[in-house]
Amino acid sequence: MCGIIGILGKHEAAPILVEALKRLEYRGYDSSGIAAVKSDGSIDRRRAVGKLAELQDKLVFEPLEGKAGIGHTRWATHGEPTEKNAHPHSVGHVSVVHNGIIENFIDLRQELSMDGYKSRTDTDTETIAMVCSKFIDEGYEPIDAARKTLSKLNGSYAIAMLFEGHENFIFAARSGSPLAVGYGKNEMYLGSDALALMPLTNKISYLEEEDHAVLTREGVKIYDQKGNFVSRSVTYLNQSINAHDKLGFNHFMEKEIHEQPKALEKAIKSYLCDGETGQKINILEEVNFQNISKVILVACGTAYYACHVAKYWIEKIAKIQVEIDIASEFRYRKPPLARDSVAIFVSQSGETADTLAALRYCHGKVLKIISIVNVTTSSIARESDQILEIHAGPEIGVASTKAFTCQLAVLLLVTIKAACDKSEYSEKRLKATINELKNLPSSLGRYLENINSIKDVAYKLSTADDILFLGRGLMYPLALEGALKLKEISYIHAEGYASGELKHGPIALIDDTVPVIILAPSDELYEKSMSNMQEVIARKANVILVSDKDGIQSAGLNGQDTIEMPCIDPLLTPLLYALPVQLIAYFTAVYKGTDVDQPRNLAKSVTVE
Ligand code: G6P
Repeated sequence: MCGIIGILGKHEAAPILVEALKRLEYRGYDSSGIAAVKSDGSIDRRRAVGKLAELQDKLVFEPLEGKAGIGHTRWATHGEPTEKNAHPHSVGHVSVVHNGIIENFIDLRQELSMDGYKSRTDTDTETIAMVCSKFIDEGYEPIDAARKTLSKLNGSYAIAMLFEGHENFIFAARSGSPLAVGYGKNEMYLGSDALALMPLTNKISYLEEEDHAVLTREGVKIYDQKGNFVSRSVTYLNQSINAHDKLGFNHFMEKEIHEQPKALEKAIKSYLCDGETGQKINILEEVNFQNISKVILVACGTAYYACHVAKYWIEKIAKIQVEIDIASEFRYRKPPLARDSVAIFVSQSGETADTLAALRYCHGKVLKIISIVNVTTSSIARESDQILEIHAGPEIGVASTKAFTCQLAVLLLVTIKAACDKSEYSEKRLKATINELKNLPSSLGRYLENINSIKDVAYKLSTADDILFLGRGLMYPLALEGALKLKEISYIHAEGYASGELKHGPIALIDDTVPVIILAPSDELYEKSMSNMQEVIARKANVILVSDKDGIQSAGLNGQDTIEMPCIDPLLTPLLYALPVQLIAYFTAVYKGTDVDQPRNLAKSVTVE
């Protein structure tokens, strides 16, 4: 979603701001803008609708002067993506960029209009600048005016503010949306995302909830909600992570699909250790699942489908009841929770607003709150009792790929740990599973070396209007994920269904124009899936069967397309079948020519509800 950058430096800010905004593009946006305090003290800005190239074009003809600047990529919430609504919003003496939503902006607007301050945009953000400017008109010094402004705001925000006549400081504040301060040499930076700051500095501090900060070129002063001066810990970013290089791949999504073997190896290894009788799983050591009556799994989007897979695993293998829900429903459903349950929140970014709110709902109601995240400094990680890192490395493509498989790996390890606690998993089986898990990354690597059959299938799919994905058991959530991936990046309408549910509605859609992708490894549900496949073949659907060699041979197909998968322990099939599902979406989108890494309307990290 929206991205913020701020710079207070020795050089002209505009080119540095634009470069930093490019590193925030992956979050998803539909307009952008920058503002700077000029040497005469006035504030100037440039804004443009669409991609950053539009803003850059503008800057060629109308350069922006100033060494103190702020920049923003906007994902429209209040008001269409127009230049008028793009940030920074400048009112009177103030210019502001903002992530989040000011929920009381209509009330504030009404108050302001009675005092003669009229809004010119459709945004909630403009009211922040209006309120602050009004306080300055009333005689407050800029920093006091900004502080007083914060006390008037309800909702969530990360804010960076510039003031007319003051090129020596930037005001920043955070409540519900992340914001990091970066330290340079006689330069200071602000970023809504550490990745945006990476080439500028590797030394950062995250503001904590309700903090505000005053940046000068010499450093930063951070204050808590009560206005006390506080110190926040300094984190050093790992600069060897080159998240913004596609490393020869055409898209970040393609790169991230191919990074899965390495990422999984790291994720799996990090939870294995040497025990007396060989390697053992070292995860959630302090939780004894014998005493747990229920596991609650909550997430959004792709992370939710990882939870869906885990429900099948945990209930079947560890024999513990599992409740899953999408966070936006869970938080308002307000279910009663048993004290002896654990609640697990799965989120790549760790900043998804609904998942965070669902986590907060569970505070004090369950035995333990666990987060499975990729970003261990995120809000969700910070507010949980225990963090399980997925070790996927930065994920830039909007459509989640390597984070999904790494989430699955961690959830599988949690499942096995729970099954061991409940004596549902023998030593022998544990050893065999650990071996299978250790071999998994190389199996995935070999599979990714030969994916031409998927390209052929994707070419045919790229002209379809509707596509169905079917699966049973562990393949049902994969069918849902396949449909989500495809619609996200190719804009083709797709639905995932449990194969057995087909007859209860979706079969009405089937004719020779609707491709049906059937995920059916030769496991205990294979025969059932084949019956469902025959039902759609009988209705002239274009079937694409994704199965192993035996599964394809036994299917008795007659000219239909197939995608052959290696044979694997049935327990691990979701991790393997995630690859064709991702690749089908990827190549279909490439053939359609859509924007794979930044699909329209989507955001990488959804920080508003
Ligand atoms: C957005 C992204 C999805 C992601 C979902 C949950 O919708 O586009 O790719 O699965 O948010 O994000 P999270 O960071 O919580 O896993």
